[in-house]
Amino acid sequence: MRRGSIVQLVVLGMLFGAGAAAVALLIPWLPDPASEQADRIDFVFWFVTAICIAIFALVAAVIVYSILHFRARPDDDEDGPPTHGNTGLEIVWTAVPAALVTAISIVSAVVLAKNEHLPTAATASAARAAQASTVNGLCKTKSADPLKPLVVCVMAQQFSWLFKYPGYGNATSATLRLPIHRTVQLQLQSTDVIHSFWVPEFGQKQDAVPGLLTKLVITPTRNGIFPVICTELCGLGHAVMRSQAQVTSEADFVKWAKSRGSTANPGNGAPGGTSGAKLFVDNGCNGCHTFKPASSTGTIGPDLDNLSEAARRANQPLDTFIRESIVDPGKYVEPGYPNAMPGTFATLPPEQIDALVKYLSGGGK
Ligand code: CUA
Repeated sequence: MRRGSIVQLVVLGMLFGAGAAAVALLIPWLPDPASEQADRIDFVFWFVTAICIAIFALVAAVIVYSILHFRARPDDDEDGPPTHGNTGLEIVWTAVPAALVTAISIVSAVVLAKNEHLPTAATASAARAAQASTVNGLCKTKSADPLKPLVVCVMAQQFSWLFKYPGYGNATSATLRLPIHRTVQLQLQSTDVIHSFWVPEFGQKQDAVPGLLTKLVITPTRNGIFPVICTELCGLGHAVMRSQAQVTSEADFVKWAKSRGSTANPGNGAPGGTSGAKLFVDNGCNGCHTFKPASSTGTIGPDLDNLSEAARRANQPLDTFIRESIVDPGKYVEPGYPNAMPGTFATLPPEQIDALVKYLSGGGK
């Protein structure tokens, strides 16, 4: 090969490489990572991208060089010279991709394994906690020791998220509050269909599957508010099944969780509280319905501020109408709204249904 050809190929390769690198670097394809796990995933992403850019530059340079130098003249209708295999070339184009693919799998496997790691001092207790929490498929873990990972139970349902903190008197929250630099283990459950938990800045997704307890480890590295998105098509309200993850300092988090744990659960964290306002949030009603006393603004289902008019249209007394709409939502469907409400609320304890009916019929009192 002549020296001029090599120079031309190298110049072409650098041009294409620079173009591809500009596209990769100048466009913000991914959000800024906000967790250790997302940092590692970002590394894999750039590792693969760098390999892709190099291969693209090589292939594009050879194609363009060949087009410039070897294209047929208008009057040339000869066959090209016959060629048989080139053993050296074939070994190279088999060995190099094999080595690259192997390198990508090793890097990915290491990152995936690391991303599931909990702090070593806590591995034993975490394993025990995980065992305890799979009993009856319920998330029952207790974890207050700061050495252990912070366990957050994530309850997914059509169409809302609820986050529970077993280490803080079972405090519940519709937004995910996390302390910075502390490893958190999310334990995900679903009450109806398959949902999928995703915070783009945390870099990972995990399904919430009915009857299973799935897990996701997050170590936040940046304070801020990030979107929580359901990324599994789960019904009519899928697109609005969103919440927020708020990362704060450890001190702010503990202050919040403690106040939450005591005020939200006056009965010493005992389950089955019957405050209508709390039940409204815990059961995700706020995810789909607008109700001014609860400051909720969902638009999947009817506006609950106009319940008496709806009851009149359904030709039922208000309390009966509300109760029926909770336990048998398909019986009367408000005109203009889809028949989207799941029937799972019929399984709530009777005293909780009573409390919800009272809360809604009394306009939030
Ligand atoms: Cu839940 Cu999509």
